[in-house]
Amino acid sequence: MRLQKVRALTARPFGVNLNNNYPQDRHLDETLNSGVKVISFFWGTNEAHIARAKKVGALVLQTVGTSSDAQLAVSAGADIIVAQGWEAGGHVCSLVTTLALVPAVVDAVPGTPVVAAGGIADGRGVAAVLALGAAGAWIGTRFLLANEATMTPGYRALVIASGEADTQSGRGENPTWYESAIRWIGRQKEPWISEFGPRPRWPRGRPCSAPTGRGGNRRRDLE
Ligand SMILES: Cc1cc2nc3c(=O)[nH]c(=O)nc-3n(C[C@H](O)[C@H](O)[C@H](O)COP(=O)(O)O)c2cc1C
Repeated sequence: MRLQKVRALTARPFGVNLNNNYPQDRHLDETLNSGVKVISFFWGTNEAHIARAKKVGALVLQTVGTSSDAQLAVSAGADIIVAQGWEAGGHVCSLVTTLALVPAVVDAVPGTPVVAAGGIADGRGVAAVLALGAAGAWIGTRFLLANEATMTPGYRALVIASGEADTQSGRGENPTWYESAIRWIGRQKEPWISEFGPRPRWPRGRPCSAPTGRGGNRRRDLE
């Protein structure tokens, strides 16, 4: 339904983003059957999903948080790697800062374009990640201020008033998205619970973007 709405609004190509923490078989089918040719996967590499998208000629972007996950995604067929650093707003896969992550990922997947995400808000940030070897920048928080964003006036004002020290990182309360780390602007506690400590929460070698294989639910993998 949403795909039809987007189609009605533009004749230009557009992509669809799917969260591998949840089963996405039906959404992926609907997306590919509707002819969408750009698919971006977040929170876990699901090789079967990538293979299905590639089979119908779609361009696949995979968001990762480590260089080893980038290699995994490229071997699974991903065309473009989105290296999301720890600074990123929203749900965050990585425990590595953008400055450290991007060159490591670029080196790990030679020949595959890497797009940098996390803490980029203006032309200087774009120039910086290009200098690190990225092919482009993936910007999130800054676009919350776009006219098209469905922000409340209150949150819009908060984003505008915020400085670099005004983000918090915490754990999502959603029990279906196990220990998902989130970064948001503001000092309010709600709707998320208190900050993580400095230590990684994921067992070594099993970061959030490790292959999930069973419909993308990482929680079951960890149990
Ligand atoms: C409000 C918000 C919602 C987000 N939702 C998604 C999402 O649904 N899927 C996704 O892949 N990334 C999502 N992200 C993360 C962005 O894709 C991107 O990695 C991040 O915003 C980059 O960091 P920046 O916010 O510092 O620009 C979201 C980010 C924000 C701020």
